[in-house]
Amino acid sequence: MSQKVINIAIDGFSATGKSTLAKELAAKLGYRYIDSGAMYRGITYFAQKHGLVNGETIDLELLNHLDKISLEFHHNSKRGGSDLILNGENVEEHIRKLKVAKHVSAVAAISEIRKFLVHQQKMMAAQKGVVMDGRDIGTVVLPDAELKIFVTAREAVRTNRRFLELTSRGDKITKLEVEANLRQRDLLDTTREDSPLVMAEDAKLLDNSEMTREQQLELAMKWVAEKLS
Ligand code: CDP
Repeated sequence: MSQKVINIAIDGFSATGKSTLAKELAAKLGYRYIDSGAMYRGITYFAQKHGLVNGETIDLELLNHLDKISLEFHHNSKRGGSDLILNGENVEEHIRKLKVAKHVSAVAAISEIRKFLVHQQKMMAAQKGVVMDGRDIGTVVLPDAELKIFVTAREAVRTNRRFLELTSRGDKITKLEVEANLRQRDLLDTTREDSPLVMAEDAKLLDNSEMTREQQLELAMKWVAEKLS
């Protein structure tokens, strides 16, 4: 008998290590990993490149360009995981920069942008066998996902992790800037009107402040095994 195939939704605050967990789960299960945050970052990068971000304001002219934006993921065998391809260009390096993180939550608060991306995300998961991470995956994108995990960690732990990640990629930033960005995004993401970040009622809570990568993967795999049995 062939094994049951499920969808896994992972949501949580900024820099909680959702994508690390999602990637490792996908690799273990032979599932596809989809980084929904990368898609919001890609649109933000597009807006910046086209002069559609003025100070803190996103120029809604951006909405007239959506039909010209194509987003795809290409597997990156060197790094593991996948790179975001925006209109044929690999933009993975660009979208991870703090410059993009500073405006992404404002872009993600625009309902038309969410509609545009949520539609694509639902299609990507229609065949099942997907691990998707983000802010509204268990609540809006995949409300029927068989397993939902809500990831959290103490703010200082998250700041450290993201600071190390960004500086190792060559971003010249301070820890204070990273902390301010995480706070600002968490506030915007939890208070926006359309699809705010909330834990789905049927999600499992995973606080990984004191956990190693191996420990969090082990716990998540235990939950997967329960759903597959
Ligand atoms: O990796 P990190 O926790 O920094 O964030 P991300 O997953 O790359 O997402 C970047 C931003 O995109 C978030 O702060 C949200 O504003 C937005 N986002 C969203 O609104 N809905 C999603 N499903 C995923 C991301």
